[in-house]
Amino acid sequence: MLGYALQQVFPRADFFGHRDVEITNGGAVMKIVKRERPAVLINAAAYTDVDGCEENRNHAFAVNGYAPGYIANASSEVGAVLVHYSTDYIFDGTKQEFYEDDPPNPINVYGESKLLGESLIKENMQDYRIIRTSWLFGSHGKNFVDTILSLSHQMPEVRVVKDQIGKPTYTVDLAGATPDIISRAPGIYHITNDGSCSWYEFASAFIPNAIPCTTREFPRKAKRPSNSVLANTKIPPLRPWREAVREYIRTKRNVV
Ligand SMILES: NC(=O)c1ccc[n+]([C@@H]2O[C@H](COP(=O)([O-])OP(=O)(O)OC[C@H]3O[C@@H](n4cnc5c(N)ncnc54)[C@H](OP(=O)(O)O)[C@@H]3O)[C@@H](O)[C@H]2O)c1
Repeated sequence: MLGYALQQVFPRADFFGHRDVEITNGGAVMKIVKRERPAVLINAAAYTDVDGCEENRNHAFAVNGYAPGYIANASSEVGAVLVHYSTDYIFDGTKQEFYEDDPPNPINVYGESKLLGESLIKENMQDYRIIRTSWLFGSHGKNFVDTILSLSHQMPEVRVVKDQIGKPTYTVDLAGATPDIISRAPGIYHITNDGSCSWYEFASAFIPNAIPCTTREFPRKAKRPSNSVLANTKIPPLRPWREAVREYIRTKRNVV
């Protein structure tokens, strides 16, 4: 999903998908990076199925944990800047908002595996930009907006949890902010659309038949932090999430 948005922002860059490289294979990663010798390497690949990670722990750690370490090692070898995306789910949800240097404490396997990825990048190189983001929506991927829109047409009421708070983020806006981050100092950045909400408030912004429910009424395999609001102290804020979701839905209508 994010990879497609990045292709619009960097039209002259070379893009590689899963068919081109298996990132859990450190040798394959080193080979392609040495062949391409990029000045900047952007890694948007991950195993993003949060509930799936609970059942496929080894796979989650291989893709989200060890693979970023291989990519960092290869980037360092050719002197490339590495941009890597991480998640709000490295935090436990026990604060009102989370700053870039707050201590992580993941409560699910996805968060644990993404945190290992961050740590191995920091261990293997200096010139990295780790961009933590949250609640992504955009074209070319399974996302909350598409799922809820489709449920809204199929059923009279759609129950959506009201006790998990976060910051929705449009892939187009996140990709659009990435060149600015590349020009900044190495480190960790929090990039989301501006404003926070519950999943229920998010759904209510674009469907008329959302009904609030609690996490307890809607159990999932992976625990989710009740509050994963990322505070951005380093770059100018992106536009408000409501504007971004309106634009995404307009774009979808034009495509249909
Ligand atoms: N989605 C969210 O709500 C969210 C929230 C916070 C942070 N993030 C982070 O943002 C980034 C982009 O997320 P996204 O939602 O755009 O991801 P996505 O749509 O799930 O795309 C992930 C891509 O990674 C590829 N991939 C998976 N395993 C691979 C492997 N072993 N080797 C090579 N490629 C592999 C996938 O290919 P296949 O489909 O062929 O496996 C897919 O093309 C990720 O780092 C994610 O952790 C996402």
